[in-house]
Amino acid sequence: MTQAPSERRSNLFYDQWMESIGIPIHRGHYHSDLRTLELGWWEERGCNAAFLQMKGMEGVSEARIVEIPPGKTLPPLKMAIGETIYVLSGSGLASVWAGEGPKNSFEWGPHAMFHVPRYAHVQLSNARGDQPARLLHYNYMPMAMTIVPDPEFFFNNPFEDPSLLYGQGDDLYSQARAVLGAGAKDSMAEAAGAVRDDSLKAANHGGAWWIGNFFPDMAQWDKLSPHRGRGAGGLSVKIQFPGSGMGASMSVFDASMYKKAHLHGPGRVIVIPRGEGYSLLTEPGKEAVVCPWGEAAVFTPPGGWYHQHFNLGTEPARYLKFGHLPQFSSAGDYRDQIEYANEDPWVREHFEKELAARGRESQMPDIVYSDPDYQWDYGDDN
Ligand SMILES: [Fe+2]
Repeated sequence: MTQAPSERRSNLFYDQWMESIGIPIHRGHYHSDLRTLELGWWEERGCNAAFLQMKGMEGVSEARIVEIPPGKTLPPLKMAIGETIYVLSGSGLASVWAGEGPKNSFEWGPHAMFHVPRYAHVQLSNARGDQPARLLHYNYMPMAMTIVPDPEFFFNNPFEDPSLLYGQGDDLYSQARAVLGAGAKDSMAEAAGAVRDDSLKAANHGGAWWIGNFFPDMAQWDKLSPHRGRGAGGLSVKIQFPGSGMGASMSVFDASMYKKAHLHGPGRVIVIPRGEGYSLLTEPGKEAVVCPWGEAAVFTPPGGWYHQHFNLGTEPARYLKFGHLPQFSSAGDYRDQIEYANEDPWVREHFEKELAARGRESQMPDIVYSDPDYQWDYGDDN
């Protein structure tokens, strides 16, 4: 999965830049534990780090693992594009500021997620003296560098726009707020501008969007809405980062259940805050790739590949998805989805076999395999 820089050539400027850094680049479809993935020293950033460039991310999204040594503070970094950070392990402090403005400092711990707006400075510290802290960073640098192939434009560029950070009010990194919108597109536009609390029917599956820069624990986050239509009685939350088109979402679904297969565009990176299971990545007409997962596993569904998530654990599992640019979304009306009744019988058989090996049985209702219009009962009136 890991290739030395010299083994591969790409005509994408981002790839050439990434390979020039000289730290490990982890490819493939998945990695089972980012907390133990091999890293390499990145002198300029003062830390051990590695890039993830899995199939389906190429030319679209960047993910990299950053490890802060015990008790250390990394050099400040300012990027011309926004970046989302998820905490794989450890705890520490982040300071974010813009221009000559005041520093916003907040503490983070395992499973926290926060967003650093474009042109903002961020400095990260490990609060523990006895263990490193590992972070997963996510952004769209590959696309940006195709348009502007100048690394110096993106890193520590002197341009400032403090209003992007300070225009968000006093509680920049305190608490996320719910935002409801008439539809996914409206919500995106709305969230990217000012926060507006109204009571319109929300998003494409009826749930609330949450807007904020800081989500303290995605393994515990419980403000979830029914994700009708994707099966397994699943719940989800959609997240928009203020002043940005970037977002994230997380799905939660019960033990011994599995979701429907669906497909969309490239660039998404999925990490597991909690749970045990596997996902199938299937290029239409080809054999499925099985991606086993547990906490801190990562995988990427390539654009145009079906993917489907299976919970083999004894408690609800959750997967957190980065990469919700509208240009890479599906049609949003389930044309890009396979109903259980229409799926390859092997999908169910494999799931039941995996559960049987653990002494358990599928909790999927039989009716889903005969009625493609079956509506999951969420115990409400909708
Ligand atoms: Fe997906």
